[in-house]
Amino acid sequence: MIPNKVTLVEVGPRDGLQNEAQPVVAAHKVELVHRLQAAGCCEIEVTSFVSPKWVPQMADNAEVMAGIRRQPGVRYSVLTPNMQGLAAALPTHPHEIVVFGAASEAFSRKNINCGIEESIERFRPVVAAAHAAGLKVRGAVSCALGCPYQGEVTPDAVERVVRLMKAIGVDHCGIADTIGVGTPRRAQAALERALKHYSLSEVSGHFHDTYGQALANIHACLQLGVQVFDTSIAGLGGCPYAKGATGNVATEDVVFMLHGMGIETGLDLDALVDAGAFISGVLGRPPVSRAARALLAKRGLALSAA
Ligand code: HMG
Ligand code: MG
Repeated sequence: MIPNKVTLVEVGPRDGLQNEAQPVVAAHKVELVHRLQAAGCCEIEVTSFVSPKWVPQMADNAEVMAGIRRQPGVRYSVLTPNMQGLAAALPTHPHEIVVFGAASEAFSRKNINCGIEESIERFRPVVAAAHAAGLKVRGAVSCALGCPYQGEVTPDAVERVVRLMKAIGVDHCGIADTIGVGTPRRAQAALERALKHYSLSEVSGHFHDTYGQALANIHACLQLGVQVFDTSIAGLGGCPYAKGATGNVATEDVVFMLHGMGIETGLDLDALVDAGAFISGVLGRPPVSRAARALLAKRGLALSAA
């Protein structure tokens, strides 16, 4: 079942940076996107069209979208939680939009200020309007493996949201472990529920690495044939409404593992390490990625030996 080719959706510019307290100027976000596409990233989640009062770091969404030098073959996506977000996003010409719900009622209220059923009713016209504009719609199911407010989340709760998303026409279903508490068998159980409603190519895993389980979870999902994962350059990020949650699994770490397994990604690991070093430099701290740190150390050694 293990696929020989995997697509990584780079969520660093959005999921990675949304949680940064320090301002990151739009020019640096644009530069990050340029470096990511130069490294071979062909799916990039750029920003989100959410309330700037809720997530100030994404307030420059339109400026960032306008600043990107688009590369053919690269798909740019943005988060749109409601019609207001979609209306603001459409003139910036994304290829895809993302609606984000949750398998936990409590998290849904904290994150998007409404319960699960109501969130689906908010998404319904967003999906229809995005389709009418020719855009693909991804759906994220947050807190699929655990909730910071509610604790345990069952596979039944995950499937309920997956089914609701499918019913309103969401094209792709991402199963998200927002707080990184999932472990491999639980990750498989959640993904299996998504696979009851979506094809293998339209299901993805989005694993935050808070408890260091993300690579193991990805490996477990590969065994189900899952071929799309969200990753974040340098391991940036977290969710403003999930305190203590770290970034998504680092892109560099996932690429190191996949290439080591002989699985194609189309990505250039060295160029990714450069992109991660760039944004980490902007933020004034080293990359969280273990592979990036190791490769940077190796480069340093090579330089000092030369
Ligand atoms: P609300 O307060 O229920 O919305 O927020 P409202 O329609 O009642 O409007 C209230 C105010 O928000 C109004 O402004 C609206 O104009 C404004 P005011 O009159 O008070 O000045 N507003 C907006 N402004 C800009 N863009 C919009 C928008 N909508 C309303 N789209 C809302 C609902 C969803 C907007 C709010 O709760 C929000 O912005 N939440 C932020 C959610 C978020 O970005 N979370 C992080 C991303 S999700 C994530 O990280 C998880 C994921 O990675 C997967 C995983 O790991 O789990 C995807
Ligand atoms: Mg996330």
